[in-house]
Amino acid sequence: MIKRLLPTAAKDVGKNLLDVMLAPLGWKIAPQRSVVLDGHWYHSPVDGVVSRHRPPSLDDERFQQAVRHLSKRNAFSDLDAAVRGEVVLQRLYIAGQLAKTAHGVAGDFVEFGTYRGATAYCMLSATRDLPHAKSITLYDTFAGIPTEGMTAHERDVGLTNAYSETSADMVQENLSEFGARVHFRPGMIPETLDSTGPQQIAMMHVDLNLAQPTLDALRWALPRWSPGGICLLDDYLWEGYEDQRQCVDAFFRDQQLTIIAIPTGQGLVLNQQISPT
Ligand SMILES: C[S@@+](CC[C@H](N)C(=O)[O-])C[C@H]1O[C@@H](n2cnc3c(N)ncnc32)[C@H](O)[C@@H]1O
Repeated sequence: MIKRLLPTAAKDVGKNLLDVMLAPLGWKIAPQRSVVLDGHWYHSPVDGVVSRHRPPSLDDERFQQAVRHLSKRNAFSDLDAAVRGEVVLQRLYIAGQLAKTAHGVAGDFVEFGTYRGATAYCMLSATRDLPHAKSITLYDTFAGIPTEGMTAHERDVGLTNAYSETSADMVQENLSEFGARVHFRPGMIPETLDSTGPQQIAMMHVDLNLAQPTLDALRWALPRWSPGGICLLDDYLWEGYEDQRQCVDAFFRDQQLTIIAIPTGQGLVLNQQISPT
């Protein structure tokens, strides 16, 4: 086991050392700085993760192909970090694995907050060979975070106009290989939350960065969310998103559902309500 891991670890550490040496010249060779430190310890700064375990994402060829595609398309959500060579990997991997898990649940996928389509790509890619592959409906302004409805705290942490360097055309291009599996609902939430969206939701990825539209989206999605369905909250534990956390905590408490906080800072909710008999 150690023998198998060591060459990869040495390669990763080597890549990172070279990166450090080349940084003053503004160059980098490693497409991702998440690193296996000694064959066991793993560190992914943009996911906020230090782990004693080697994550399976590193050995998942399908996922690594997705990362290469997204790197080439410059589609990662934290562009500053991507320039430093650090990209969100574990959060994307978890979204893909959950999409596979939700495959047997009635309905399709929904994403509230898409930016350049990185998570949507991973969800579609992870499920591409499954029979009756699910579609995804993407809700976003495709022009960045709007100021309407922003709390003072959200303004203070600098969310105004963040994620504006995108467009529906760019996302269509990034996800083009999935063709008819991708549907767009461009515009402001809550205005776009109407009866034209999917009637049954197997999995929703909620990544709007703001409390109010998150609450609007969850209220709209709740009656459509299939039993056994999955809800993945991207920013749940992250600093700066405290207002959003308060809202989702209260929302799911009312539904008597537990938010499982996972080490990437994501919140995971399973629609496991026991129906009254
Ligand atoms: C962090 S980004 C999403 C990242 C994306 N999930 C990914 O995989 O890269 C947040 C997105 O939420 C969108 N957004 C925030 N508030 C919105 C609203 N009220 N209506 C529509 N889109 C909104 C922004 O346009 C932005 O693209």
